[in-house]
Amino acid sequence: MSPSAEAAPALVDVTEEVLEQLLGLAVRDADADEVTPPLGGAGWTPERISWFREYHRAAAAGLDGPARQRSWAISCGGTLAGAVRLQRTGRSPMTYPSLETGIWLARGFRGRGIGTEALRLVKAQAAAYGATLLEAQTTAGNAAALALLRSAGAELGFEAAPSGAAPAVTARLPLR
Ligand SMILES: CC(C)(COP(=O)(O)OP(=O)(O)OC[C@H]1O[C@@H](n2cnc3c(N)ncnc32)[C@H](O)[C@@H]1OP(=O)(O)O)[C@@H](O)C(=O)NCCC(=O)NCCS
Repeated sequence: MSPSAEAAPALVDVTEEVLEQLLGLAVRDADADEVTPPLGGAGWTPERISWFREYHRAAAAGLDGPARQRSWAISCGGTLAGAVRLQRTGRSPMTYPSLETGIWLARGFRGRGIGTEALRLVKAQAAAYGATLLEAQTTAGNAAALALLRSAGAELGFEAAPSGAAPAVTARLPLR
């Protein structure tokens, strides 16, 4: 389904109020492994919940802050659907030739074109920062992420993973 049939997705800043709503959504309707690093075991452990809050608070300082990241909640007509981020990858202090993105949506919002629109919005943000390349990391087992990235025109590079794990995939999206 196209998101045009419903409210168009928009990126909103992660204020403290948005942060608690976003955390509630993630815990209710996303796998912890889709949203956080593997901290404290499986599921929404206290470590992962702390990480989630600290991550978004640190990212509020933006690409020049200590976390070198910025995050946004994805809102569909005032209803939160997930989150997207930009992270610096280059070493130069004040320019961003390439940026990395990551995205997650709550299960109830997937498969409706929202990821496509959110990626389009974050590409525009990256271009506005002056980046010429947007990268994303996933695995060969993540069919939805691969389809989303391919559909956006990404070039995909596959790299064998150790011990039978799904190959790692780096997606590269030129912005100019
Ligand atoms: C990956 C994710 C953001 C995709 O968002 P989405 O809103 O579901 O994607 P869309 O509805 O915009 O679909 C984008 C494309 O993926 C395809 N797609 C969506 N879900 C799919 C699935 N489960 N399997 C295969 N293809 C799928 C769509 O058909 C569409 O392809 P098209 O453009 O060729 O028609 C979402 O599935 C998600 O949050 N997954 C969990 C977190 C995650 O894996 N993040 C990715 C890290 S890079």
